[in-house]
Amino acid sequence: MTSHLSWDRERALDHARELVSQTWRNFDSAREYQPTVSPELLDLLNAPLPNEPCDAVQALDEAAEALDTTTSQARPRYFGYIGSSGLEVGALADLLVGSHDANLAIDAGAATLVEAQALRWVAEFIGYPAQGGSFTSGGTVSNITALTAARERAFPGSRQHGVVPGSATAYCSADAHYSICRAIEVLGIGSQWLRPIPVDVNRRMNPIALSHAIDDDIAQGRTPMVVVATSGTTLTGAIDPIDAIADVCDVHGVWLHIDGAYGLPAAAVMPDAFTGLARADSVSVDAHKWMFVPKACGVVMVREPQALSKAFGHATSYIPGATLNAVDVTLEYSRPLRALKMWLAFRVHGAAEMRAALQRNIDQARLLHDLATQRPGWQVALHPALSIVLIRHEGVNNAALVEAIQQDGRVYVSHAQLDGQTWLRPCFTNPRTTSADVQALIDVADEIVHYRENSAL
Ligand SMILES: Cc1ncc(COP(=O)(O)O)c(C=O)c1O
Repeated sequence: MTSHLSWDRERALDHARELVSQTWRNFDSAREYQPTVSPELLDLLNAPLPNEPCDAVQALDEAAEALDTTTSQARPRYFGYIGSSGLEVGALADLLVGSHDANLAIDAGAATLVEAQALRWVAEFIGYPAQGGSFTSGGTVSNITALTAARERAFPGSRQHGVVPGSATAYCSADAHYSICRAIEVLGIGSQWLRPIPVDVNRRMNPIALSHAIDDDIAQGRTPMVVVATSGTTLTGAIDPIDAIADVCDVHGVWLHIDGAYGLPAAAVMPDAFTGLARADSVSVDAHKWMFVPKACGVVMVREPQALSKAFGHATSYIPGATLNAVDVTLEYSRPLRALKMWLAFRVHGAAEMRAALQRNIDQARLLHDLATQRPGWQVALHPALSIVLIRHEGVNNAALVEAIQQDGRVYVSHAQLDGQTWLRPCFTNPRTTSADVQALIDVADEIVHYRENSAL
C-alpha cells in the first residue's frame, strides 16, 4: 500500500493520451455542427458530490464528452471574440507544469530561468527592449500590474498612502478594453478620472485630442498618471499611433503603457505599424490570444528595471529576502510556470513558423474583407488593421443574423456595435484556420441570409 491516492495511473495516462490525440485530430478540420448537452450528460452534471471512486477511464470519458460539447475556441471555424488556439505543444506544457506544480512565487531554480528566457524571447519577438516583467494570467492582470507601476512613478509612495481623489488622471482611446477602466478603479484612481480620447475614422486614438486633454488636466492642478495606447483594439483591431502618443507623453513625462494583449504579436510581422513601441514604459501582450498557447498566459514587460519592484517589492518573515523574488514584481503569490507553454512553443515551432502563422491570419482577414466587398448586400466597416473584420448585411437584422449563425453551428461569430449599428465581427487568431474556412464563413452567413427561415432576420 503506497501513500498515493489510489488509482491505476498508467491505464489512465494511456487513455488520456488517446483522448488528447482524438481531440487534436478532431480539431484538424471543422465539424458540421455544434453538439448540444445530452440528457445523460446533464444528469451527470447535476449529480451530488461522489463519495466513492469511479473508474478513471469512465471519468475521463465523461470529462472528454463535456469538453466536446463545449463551445471550443480552438476549432478552426471559431471566429468569435478573440479566440484561442490551444496549441498542442502548449497543452503538453500544461500537463508537465501541472505534474511538477512548481511555485514561481519565489526563486524556483531552473523554472525561474525558463520564465526569464521566455520573457526575453517574447520581448525580442515583438521588438520591445524589456528590462523586467513577468508572465501573468492574462491581459487584465498585465494591465493592472503595469498601471500599478505607473501610479507609483507618478505618485511615489502612493502604494502606502494612496492617492487623493481627483488628483490623478489617466487616458486611453475611447475604444480601449474595459480592463483599463477596471485597473483604474482597482487602483483607487476612480474611473471618472479616466479620459476616453476620441478616435479618428480608422478608430485610432487622436494624439492632438490627447494632448489637449492632458493640458486641461494639468491646468486644473491634476497629475496625468498614465496614457494607455492600444495596439490592436478589441473592437476593430485598430493600432493607436504609438510614436505620436509617445511624443505627447514625453512633453509631460507621463508613463506610456501599450495594451497589446491582442494585437502586439503582429509587431513581429509588420513592425512599421507599431513604430514607437520601444518608447513605451510598459507593454502587455497575451500569449493565450495571438501567440496561440492555451489560457491562462499573459505577459507584462517594463523598460525600467526597477519599475515593478518599486510598486510590488516588500519584505515578509516567510519569504527569503536576499534575492528579488517574483512576489516582488507581480500581483500574485502562488504562480504556476505559465512561461513553459511559450518557451516550448518557440523551441518546437521556432519564431519563423510563429510569424508565418500570424501572417496567415492577417491574410485571412484581408481575404474576408475582399470576399465581403465583392458579395452583393454585404458591407465592410474598415480595411482590417490586423485580423478583425467587421461585416454586416444591409438587408437583415444583423444581431439576429449572428444568433442564427451561432444556432446553425457550422461557424461561430460574435457581434459588435460600431457607430450605432450591429456588425458581425470575425477575428482570426488560430493557426488551424485556412482560406477555405474563411470562404465557409461568408458562404454560411450568406446562405442564412438568403434562406431566411428565421423570421427574426
Ligand atoms: C486589448 C485587450 N486588452 C485586454 C484584454 C483582457 O485580456 P484577458 O481576457 O486576457 O484578461 C483583452 C481581451 O480581449 C483585449 O482585447
